[in-house]
Amino acid sequence: MKMKKKFETEVIHGNYDSAEYQDSLVPPIFQSSTFTFANAQQGERRFAGEEAGFIYSRLGNPTVKILEERIANLEGAEKALAFGSGMAAVSAVLFSFVKTGDHIVCSQGVYGCTFGLLQLMREKFDVSHAFSFMTTEEEVRSALTENTACIYIETPINPTMRLVDLEMVSRVAKEKGIPVIVDNTFCTPYLQKPLELGCDIVIHSATKYICGHGDVIAGIVAGNEERLNKISMTTQKDIGGIIAPFDAWLLLRGLKTLHLRMDRHCENAVKLASALMTHPAIDQVYYPGNPKQTDFNIAQKQMKKPGGLISFTIKGSKQDAQELMNKLKLIKIAVSLGDAETLIQHPATMTHAVVPVQKRIEMGIPDNMLRLSVGLEASEDIWEDLEQALQK
Ligand SMILES: Cc1ncc(COP(=O)(O)O)c(C=O)c1O
Repeated sequence: MKMKKKFETEVIHGNYDSAEYQDSLVPPIFQSSTFTFANAQQGERRFAGEEAGFIYSRLGNPTVKILEERIANLEGAEKALAFGSGMAAVSAVLFSFVKTGDHIVCSQGVYGCTFGLLQLMREKFDVSHAFSFMTTEEEVRSALTENTACIYIETPINPTMRLVDLEMVSRVAKEKGIPVIVDNTFCTPYLQKPLELGCDIVIHSATKYICGHGDVIAGIVAGNEERLNKISMTTQKDIGGIIAPFDAWLLLRGLKTLHLRMDRHCENAVKLASALMTHPAIDQVYYPGNPKQTDFNIAQKQMKKPGGLISFTIKGSKQDAQELMNKLKLIKIAVSLGDAETLIQHPATMTHAVVPVQKRIEMGIPDNMLRLSVGLEASEDIWEDLEQALQK
């Protein structure tokens, strides 16, 4: 589905008509848990789905609906659903696609809690999974089994910044009628649109760039109406990980500057990645804008810009990496990403601490790796701080 106007306009005005809301320029917050019916029959019709209208905020809320429609428009999706966290979104989607005995093919590397959820699904519900780098069509095909119910991809992968060719994977998946789910958190629809590349479902931890201000935990799912209706009437309604109206309002506020923030995150990250690449204390820099990265061509093909996250390994040990973090003054030590503040974290002991050591090494997350979420500050100031911390 095409946007009517340019992204930069739709992100501010899309899917909101102030005339429908007492001419309020800014969407109002409907801070109400439930909605009244004119009479018993109207209640019956709404529950039966015969009449449109709100019932109860776990089943839908006007402020949340404005957010959902705006994001669906930005992702080129028929519909979107908002959740109380990125993990509520991930679990609602995965549980909607699988049943006991099914199998999930997953990119070789995912966010630590998504890894934890896959483990839990295997242990409790006998849903198995296999990881694949998905570098070639053959590699994708060989990971599929008769019971594969879906393919789950992060690209760029957290925190290795490896990329998966979404158009290629969705082409292979279509041969077998297997849906492709993409966690688009690192890119946002401003940098990458998985649905346009043939994928079926997009997930976001909206906690990150979509919010952009570090003050909300939230998730988004976007895709076709039939599947999204199913999620909304099953795993969203009955597991209940919904977003609060005030948090939806904060996301609408943050969204208005998404394009400006992403441009600046990327501009800063490009400068910092190139400074890191030539620093003698650095071993490797993992950044989709790094021409030396093997999957650089995938970045060129499917990402508008290389994004605001950089991972790097230092010439040294885990202790050296932790010491570097402790020397930082401006850059904050914190998990999460996509905020105005530059954040650094140590994946092996933080976001990916739940991944067993052997698996973590296979995923490409050594003890001397750090992940930097480049903020909106002056790039010179961020570099000055990093440089002084990199000094022996
Ligand atoms: C790529 C990715 N997906 C999903 C999540 C989970 O999101 P949340 O923390 O909003 O539940 C995160 C969190 O860091 C993430 O980085």
